[in-house]
Amino acid sequence: MKIPLVDLKAQYNLIKDEINEAIQRVIQAGQFILGPEVKAFEEEIASYCGTRFAIGVASGTDALHLALLACGVKPGNEVITSPFTFIATAEAITNCGAIPVFVDIDPRTYNINPAQIEPKISSKTKTIIPVHLYGQPVKMEPVSELGKRHNLKIIEDCAQALGAEYKGKKVGSLGDAGCLSFFPSKILGAYGDGGMVVTNDPEIAEKVRMLRNHGAKQKYYHLVPGFNSRLDELQAAILRVKLRNILRWILARHQKAALYAEMLKGIEEVETPHQAADARHVFNYYTIRVKKGRDELQKFLSSRGVYTSIYYPLCLHLQEVCRNLGYQAGDFPESERAQEEVLSLPIYPELDDNKIEWVAKRVREFVKEGL
Ligand SMILES: Cc1ncc(COP(=O)(O)O)c(C=O)c1O
Repeated sequence: MKIPLVDLKAQYNLIKDEINEAIQRVIQAGQFILGPEVKAFEEEIASYCGTRFAIGVASGTDALHLALLACGVKPGNEVITSPFTFIATAEAITNCGAIPVFVDIDPRTYNINPAQIEPKISSKTKTIIPVHLYGQPVKMEPVSELGKRHNLKIIEDCAQALGAEYKGKKVGSLGDAGCLSFFPSKILGAYGDGGMVVTNDPEIAEKVRMLRNHGAKQKYYHLVPGFNSRLDELQAAILRVKLRNILRWILARHQKAALYAEMLKGIEEVETPHQAADARHVFNYYTIRVKKGRDELQKFLSSRGVYTSIYYPLCLHLQEVCRNLGYQAGDFPESERAQEEVLSLPIYPELDDNKIEWVAKRVREFVKEGL
């Protein structure tokens, strides 16, 4: 048995005709940059997320970078975020010349712990980036409250969480701006890179629109230093087909997650993902905590054909690239414990239930036999 972490071909096979038709439509139209597909997709995503605006960009990393710039983040400013995330979150901050300031995570959700944010706010703090890791929404109410009280912009990193909800509202619509990634393995994956900024703020929307296209509102009239960071027509056309299926796919992920939870119930050494009553996780990743022997379990599963992944094996504050920030091992104990214990199991909407059962049985076997 071979069970991959994700299977993008399985999904393509189910929507092949529509995807091929969309690709042909763009090629026949001959417009590849900022045309009708991107415009329509932006409207569809804004409507899906419940925001007034959506601006397609080249990647989730660029979405974060441009959103930070549009929120006025300047060199020397501080931006608060989690050290337990993908490097792109911090890269976007340092690429503005700003300084990432880390706050430890809540061990149940793996997301930034709102109770620990306030002491890290200084006169230089400009923004907070809550990251909805694995598809699990951050507890946004206290974060938004801090933003209001200290006049800070909130930029949600929704790269892993499109479609997730907190108190009945979609992530991306809860802060000043939300940043989406369409990296192929994400909830809504392109056939290449892509990203988007969603916002209710017309000023942020206008700035991101300019920044993504060489700082211009009108072609060849450049108002600010910008970038070439556009979502292209082919990706937008593909993503429009996929967006029509997103609800079905998220429901399938829920069903897969529930099956894993059922099958892994009662194993003391394994903690399954937390499900908050006021949030809807979308399970971009199905990440368990293995209290002892995580690396051995990963090897054991691999030897039986099950691919797993560790998101992430090294917290950002311990990365070589962040050395100049002056953090040390021990600064964020929950994040550091998570880096030793998390393991993401295969999950995707087309994954067979019997394969989930088989993976869960292998996990149980490993724990029981203490291999
Ligand atoms: C939490 C998080 N933020 C940002 C990004 C960056 O997105 P992209 O790969 O589209 O640049 C990712 C992508 O993996 C991510 O997981």
